Amino acid sequence: MANDWATFGADLHLELRGTRLRAGLMDALREAVRSGRLEAGTRLPSSRSLAADLGMARNTVADAYAELVAEGWLTARQGSGTRVARRTAPRTLAPSAAQPPPAGRSRGRGRPAPPAHNLNSGTPDLASFPRADWLKAYRRALTDAPNEAFGYGDPRGRPELRGALAEYLARARGVYARPERIVICAGFVHGLMLIGQVLRARGVRDVAVESYGLDLHDGLLRRAGLGTPALGFDERGTRVEELAGLDGCGAVLMTAAHQYPLGGALPPDRRAAVVDWARASGGLVLEDDYDGEFRYDRQPVGALQGLDPERVVHLGTASKSLAPGLRLAWMVLPRDLAVEVAEAKGAVDWSSSAPDQLAFAEFLRSGAYDRHVRAMRLRYRRRRDQLVAAVAAHSPETRVSGIAAGLHAVLALPPGTEQATLRAAAWRGLAVQGVNQFRRPTVPSTLDGLVVGYATPPDSGWQGALQALCGVLP
Ligand SMILES: Cc1ncc(COP(=O)(O)O)c(C=O)c1O
Repeated sequence: MANDWATFGADLHLELRGTRLRAGLMDALREAVRSGRLEAGTRLPSSRSLAADLGMARNTVADAYAELVAEGWLTARQGSGTRVARRTAPRTLAPSAAQPPPAGRSRGRGRPAPPAHNLNSGTPDLASFPRADWLKAYRRALTDAPNEAFGYGDPRGRPELRGALAEYLARARGVYARPERIVICAGFVHGLMLIGQVLRARGVRDVAVESYGLDLHDGLLRRAGLGTPALGFDERGTRVEELAGLDGCGAVLMTAAHQYPLGGALPPDRRAAVVDWARASGGLVLEDDYDGEFRYDRQPVGALQGLDPERVVHLGTASKSLAPGLRLAWMVLPRDLAVEVAEAKGAVDWSSSAPDQLAFAEFLRSGAYDRHVRAMRLRYRRRRDQLVAAVAAHSPETRVSGIAAGLHAVLALPPGTEQATLRAAAWRGLAVQGVNQFRRPTVPSTLDGLVVGYATPPDSGWQGALQALCGVLP
């Protein structure tokens, strides 16, 4: 008889020792429960299925289960099967070293409290992830997916998603997007890594970066073997005219629509100038459009890529608009680069799961993405307004900038006080970053301030975080 029933049980890895089957099985199960490998409440496979897996008689397993129930290790109830008992013998494992201590408690003298409030920038409110709508899109996508969607497919990513993104990016961000020029990647960082690799292979020596930005991105380029000279910065933003003086610079990485983390939009003359530089030098502009959807007081700044799709690579991500855990991002590339980047991606790994891509495509096409972004824009705008009002009330001298867009704002601090303010924040259990954390090492320090990620906490934590922030301002 085919043992197809065996496939109905959950897999259970057990190492049986000795020749006494029932005793060996009981020892192995006790050990799995005691060590915590089998959590309280875990449903065990049926005796028939486990017997088939272990190659023993069903009665042997049934007897072992019955004895462990009698000993209190397991419970057995009609309809809910055999489970690990909720109150089992004390575990012998020490608590995990990685377990954080409870938030907000005093930890004695000499050490700050662990962060109870999180205003670090870079993360949307994860509690607002649109679970129900995503599930609906996922169900629909899986139902409609052709069988080939579960194969290896095209390293550029699913055509359904590339098609949906091409429409969305043209409509919402002014990107000149054709599906064949889009490559899906597992986050902006993955895209940048691939582009860095391809540029290096093309013989590019340096990729210029802005004075302020994420170390992570700079590091990825350097790991690809590229130099990363930093462009200067003034009150109007990045001094793109300096590119002309950088010999061997084949590309520039920019957050033109919303400088990260200082928050301004590159003015129109500099937008034109950076594209002109790329045209004249044969270089590329790598446009990091990480939070382009979130604009509050003015019209969205269109993508730079619209000015010259052959010289600007547009990189977008779902990390701010949906959630970084999805690891879904996209690159819109000049034709020849699209081929090379897809080859570089395909040579290592396809990276983004096809069902996730199909769900995202459905999410975009159904209008759920627009609805979610609109709802989040309202919510973040409200928080931003509350932040501005609270700072004005508690610390009228503190200037708040970078508030027209995005998920964070910059609070200027009196010169020389950033480190002390960060220490005071840590003592109050507030995680927040200083502007100088984002300054490239070669750039002199001219600003002191806090980068406040007002989207980060869930609604329930927002007011507490805001109060803690106001408590450390001058
Ligand atoms: C400036 C900037 N670019 C891009 C990203 C998105 O990165 P990823 O898509 O890898 O999550 C972030 C996320 O924090 C960011 O701050």
